[in-house]
Amino acid sequence: MILIKLGGSIITNKDKPLSPRRKAIENIARNLAKIKEPMIIVHGGGSYGHYWSVKYDMHTKPKRYDLHGVAIVKNSMIELDKIILDALVKNKLNPYSLPPTDFMIGDKPVPKKIREISEIAKTGLIPTTYGDALWFKNKKTYILSGDKIMTHLSKLLKPRLSIFALNEDGLYSDLKTKKLISELKGEIPVISQNKMDVTGGMTRKVQEATQIAKSGIDVFFVNGNNPERIVKAVKNRKYQGTLFRRKKIV
Ligand code: IPE
Repeated sequence: MILIKLGGSIITNKDKPLSPRRKAIENIARNLAKIKEPMIIVHGGGSYGHYWSVKYDMHTKPKRYDLHGVAIVKNSMIELDKIILDALVKNKLNPYSLPPTDFMIGDKPVPKKIREISEIAKTGLIPTTYGDALWFKNKKTYILSGDKIMTHLSKLLKPRLSIFALNEDGLYSDLKTKKLISELKGEIPVISQNKMDVTGGMTRKVQEATQIAKSGIDVFFVNGNNPERIVKAVKNRKYQGTLFRRKKIV
């Protein structure tokens, strides 16, 4: 089983509200069709969900956010999800769309539902979900990121590999020279403020990736503009990107 997160920066143009990167999406879908292993896809919000959550000042912390904001974020994520689903179907894949409300109660994943997702994936259907605005409780809502969903799914399903497709080659040890870190074995890389600005939320991604690796799963950061690298990683275990080696569980 493989988990793949399509980052918002790869599937949308983050500088322009509500702009999908259709060619990149198409290219990814075409390459994913070459993978014959069960997989689950998670995608981010990019210039859809993030654009509206910034407008309505909504964050990951549960609060009484503007209800119209909640509605609009959810609507925009369905719109982006539809674009992803269409590209997958066009490439003869069988996505099975799941809003996160299907497997989350408040901020907790529902283990029984997550196990069902795994069963669905094993048939060849591709469970496809996304970061979204979610109900918490007591009139509070929150933004659940796709990265967080990756952690929830990874911990419960123990996939062979969790992949994050980014708009960068991976993690750089130096932003100026773009020197790539090809492998991390448990050490936590220092992400400078600058780096965070440039990659938008890279710190959060690294935190989730480190957590997933700690729970015994290899995590791979790869450039989604070159989706054949995803195929190579899955098929030949050749990692052109940054590999967070799993911590061996004894
Ligand atoms: C964003 O999910 C969800 C919303 C803002 C609704 P992510 O946080 O995973 O999105 P990207 O990948 O960073 O764009």
